[in-house]
Amino acid sequence: MITYSWTPLSEDSTALLEQVCALHNAEARTHVGDAASLLTPRALLASAASPDMEIRVLVASEDGQVLGSAEVWAPLLENRQLGVVDLVVAPERRREGIGTALATEALAECQRMGRTTIDSYTSHRQDTLVPGGDTVNAGDEADGETQPAASISVPETTWRLPAEDPSVAFARSWGFRPALMERVSTLELFSPAADEFLAATPSSAPEGYRTVTYEDAAPEEHAEALCTLLSIFADDIPVGEATTESEIWTPERLRRTEERLRSQGRTTVDTLIIHEATGAVAAQTSYAWKKEQPHLVQQRGTVVAREHRGRGLGAIVKRANLAAARAAWPEGRVIVTENSDHNVHMLRINSAMGFAAAAADVAWRRTLDEERG
Ligand SMILES: CC(C)(COP(=O)(O)OP(=O)(O)OC[C@H]1O[C@@H](n2cnc3c(N)ncnc32)[C@H](O)[C@@H]1OP(=O)(O)O)[C@@H](O)C(=O)NCCC(=O)NCCS
Repeated sequence: MITYSWTPLSEDSTALLEQVCALHNAEARTHVGDAASLLTPRALLASAASPDMEIRVLVASEDGQVLGSAEVWAPLLENRQLGVVDLVVAPERRREGIGTALATEALAECQRMGRTTIDSYTSHRQDTLVPGGDTVNAGDEADGETQPAASISVPETTWRLPAEDPSVAFARSWGFRPALMERVSTLELFSPAADEFLAATPSSAPEGYRTVTYEDAAPEEHAEALCTLLSIFADDIPVGEATTESEIWTPERLRRTEERLRSQGRTTVDTLIIHEATGAVAAQTSYAWKKEQPHLVQQRGTVVAREHRGRGLGAIVKRANLAAARAAWPEGRVIVTENSDHNVHMLRINSAMGFAAAAADVAWRRTLDEERG
């Protein structure tokens, strides 16, 4: 008999969480291969211990074998209306109703937690996406057609999703609508393309600015100014219809985040560009790495303050961090980054670096007072 139970997030659950993570990781690998960032029980437990986020893990199992899982991620600082549900079913046990049972209980839990906007994510290999214009195909939610859709449009991108993809069919059957597509792009860390970008981009900041590169913990003297910049990040990245509230960053939040990354086993390399006249942090970018996946370097956020844009600081901050990442992680092989297609300035820099699209992550959204569609 299949049982469904909420698993306590403690060291005692590590063996079960290993199986949960293995399911997620196998799924992620089918879309992005070895550029997939693998979930570990340690990272899950470290995130669950954070006062900034509540995490609940629902497990479907049979005879001690995990068949599927749904995690609910509930932000606690802002976006307290939001619940993010991450769902996976073992490939050999799909289409038996396990996904439906997990989703039913996970959404009920979101409701009990007072979460009314629900996001979920699907992943798609680049070669499974359907190229298209802004035209709306038969079957799109908006056009009222009754014919089955061949492909589904996503806000702010011309790429469409194949309607027959199981995750697309499942999300739509639950009344979710695509809200945002983020392109997952990769670059070989030690490649001719990366060499060229390093050679073609100034290695130091323009007059009046200077770069500061560090590992793991931001220098105390820049913490406050860095938080000012991080607080605009959530407002300034294009998010399609996956809108979220503004984030307020404080040095305490910054230190908690650094500590969480450390306890997840991650090392980070960050570069800031300081505006010398004011001490403001004009630009920031961050890479993360963990020893369980030594080949993989993950791009975290990059942001340039509005009043300092248009001076090439985006490319310069990324150049400095790329050089630092090569020095810090000589075993690194692939950098992976995610951007919305609407993020033209970031994409221009990434394409100059040599990044190529490998996959897409799609955010889906619904509200809980909507009828299941
Ligand atoms: C999406 C996923 C969780 C579905 O799990 P599942 O246990 O197979 O789901 P169910 O058996 O409860 O299917 C429920 C409905 O989803 C739709 N669906 C699921 N798989 C489908 C497929 N291969 N083709 C068409 N529709 C499909 C159908 O409407 C189905 O109802 P039906 O079987 O009565 O026709 C599973 O395919 C999976 O793990 N995919 C990868 C992870 C993922 O994409 N998760 C995010 C989903 S938002």
